[in-house]
Amino acid sequence: MPIPIIVKGIADGLDTIPWIWSVFRYAPWVLLIGVLKYYFGGARNISERLMHSKVVMVTGGTSGIGASVVQELALRGAQVILLTRQPPSDLFLVEYIEDLRRTTKNNLIYAEQVDLTSLHSVRTFATKWIDNAPPRRLDAVILCGGIALPSSARTLTPDGIDAEWQVNYLSNFHLLSILSPALRVQPAHRDVRIIFTTSSGYIGAKFDLDTVRGLNSKTKNDSAQRKNVYAMSKFALMTFAQSFQRHLSAYKRPDGLPNCARVIVVDPGTCRTPGTRRWLTGGSLWGLLVYLITWPFWWLVLKSPQQGAQSILYAAMEETYGRGQGGWMIKECRQVDYARKDVADEDVGKRLWEFSEKQIEEAEKAGAVKRGLEKKEKEAEEEKKERKEKSSGKAPSAGSRRSKKNKA
Ligand SMILES: NC(=O)c1ccc[n+]([C@@H]2O[C@H](COP(=O)([O-])OP(=O)(O)OC[C@H]3O[C@@H](n4cnc5c(N)ncnc54)[C@H](OP(=O)(O)O)[C@@H]3O)[C@@H](O)[C@H]2O)c1
Repeated sequence: MPIPIIVKGIADGLDTIPWIWSVFRYAPWVLLIGVLKYYFGGARNISERLMHSKVVMVTGGTSGIGASVVQELALRGAQVILLTRQPPSDLFLVEYIEDLRRTTKNNLIYAEQVDLTSLHSVRTFATKWIDNAPPRRLDAVILCGGIALPSSARTLTPDGIDAEWQVNYLSNFHLLSILSPALRVQPAHRDVRIIFTTSSGYIGAKFDLDTVRGLNSKTKNDSAQRKNVYAMSKFALMTFAQSFQRHLSAYKRPDGLPNCARVIVVDPGTCRTPGTRRWLTGGSLWGLLVYLITWPFWWLVLKSPQQGAQSILYAAMEETYGRGQGGWMIKECRQVDYARKDVADEDVGKRLWEFSEKQIEEAEKAGAVKRGLEKKEKEAEEEKKERKEKSSGKAPSAGSRRSKKNKA
């Protein structure tokens, strides 16, 4: 069709072609938008690794970048275990998994509850996972779960820890510390990858352990400190990633073969995900209105979740990363150097590791006491109710201790 138009233009003059001057006027702009969109879209993963039979655990696989990673891995035949904050019986989750299974023609997609705001939930899952002989197959752990809260919306988790710090860093530390034996004992020929997602925010993090301690107090922290939490959590995650690689590599396997588990840190780039939207809008209606008005700009300069997933998929699939010492960083589907050398500082890593273990120990002890008290309170309440029912001559209510006793 364009050829007859061009011929007509040459033969009869451009003025005979309707709208031609408008096309000339707007074409450079359309081209510019196309070039910018292509540029901000980032690199594409071109690696082809067969994922059939590979067992991949993913946090944050229900939304944003993680959901795109899961979709692609499932399409390639991987067995995916989604670690989600909701229980597997949650209706939304059931529908989500059914949909994934249908669209990817892969039935090997499951969910396990791992709420990253609860150290108890992380421990319950991870101890259940490692309590298996022979050890279960595990080819990759992809950590996409995370939150970026507006600085006005700071909260503490039920463990009494800053939510952003716990979800983005501490729970990942807890999960991998418990799963570590299951990762180290995978057969030596297996290519096991642990993928951490970070953000370029880590470069500006003002990190010290006293600031982290201060975050968990109920008193309001100053706003500059609060803005630093996300960056600190990512800095800590990357420092831990390096320590975890050293920890895996130091393990002497009974078969004398080298370690087969490798850590990779990935910066997916800034994407238009629900998390980014919440952060940009500051969690307010006015913020949402401004976001909607300025949406064309965000559409142009931010990646889609699928584009953000590319570097993570590259880290999970590129052959090169199935060999060597591990501890690499990937951005735009390329290996890059860490912008800050202190993430690989052994001393910083050691102090952070000890601090994190202590923080978890204290929080878990307090959590166990709290759960014990709650249980006692519940039992006392039930007993009181039963006594009341007994004295009034009523039949015991379903589920009460007396009704259970009667049934037995
Ligand atoms: N988006 C970006 O521009 C960007 C840039 C650099 C790095 N990153 C990093 O990439 C990762 C994914 O980001 P995203 O923007 O795709 O995030 P997102 O859209 O907000 O999704 C976050 C995921 O984490 C899960 N999650 C949140 N709290 C949880 C909890 N307590 N327990 C278990 N799961 C929980 C969410 O589950 P629900 O579905 O249940 O909420 C969701 O699946 C994050 O680590 C983020 O820091 C993102």
